[in-house]
Amino acid sequence: MDAVSASFAELHRWMIWCQTMPTREAMLTFLQEDEAEFDADQRWGYSIFECASGELVGSAGLRRASVIDTDALEIGYWVRSDRTKRGYASTAARSLVDAGFTCVPNIRKIRIRMDAANAASVAVPRKLGFKFLGEVKREVVTEGHSGLGALWEIERRAHDA
Ligand SMILES: CC(C)(COP(=O)(O)OP(=O)(O)OC[C@H]1O[C@@H](n2cnc3c(N)ncnc32)[C@H](O)[C@@H]1OP(=O)(O)O)[C@@H](O)C(=O)NCCC(=O)NCCS
Repeated sequence: MDAVSASFAELHRWMIWCQTMPTREAMLTFLQEDEAEFDADQRWGYSIFECASGELVGSAGLRRASVIDTDALEIGYWVRSDRTKRGYASTAARSLVDAGFTCVPNIRKIRIRMDAANAASVAVPRKLGFKFLGEVKREVVTEGHSGLGALWEIERRAHDA
């Protein structure tokens, strides 16, 4: 709750789930659902803890891209606003790429998608060597959204190389 409320302005700008400050009950329900999805091998959500302070400073997760794309996973992330630009999101995303290709059977590609105007988020896959696949029109649902989504992908072959 502390990390989300300290980051509300930034999360509100980009994340659908943060259009109002989530209540403690809503967060608890989300974490319980996340745990169930983890056990069902559908979504693997993690909290990011800062080594020096031990504080929770964000969250990152892997999930199946879709029921049709059975060989693809997607990564999502957010980092507490007063801890950004320290490499936390890219470190978490790099670990999830390694975990996805190593631990989930038959995965050939891992994607990250975001709003095309979200420069901080775009910088993460670019830094990790993902390939830019292009932009697609999409619904505007938060105040930061531009109406264009950007899609990035890394293939197993490129990762292994
Ligand atoms: C996007 C977000 C997760 C980035 O987290 P972070 O921990 O600051 O990212 P990192 O420190 O790993 O930075 C990765 C790269 O992004 C760059 N970057 C970070 N913030 C940036 C910004 N505001 N503008 C441009 N580049 C930025 C960093 O410089 C770094 O590149 P470099 O190492 O080549 O210099 C964070 O800003 C955030 O939580 N935003 C709100 C939620 C959100 O938009 N989530 C993604 C939804 S798709």
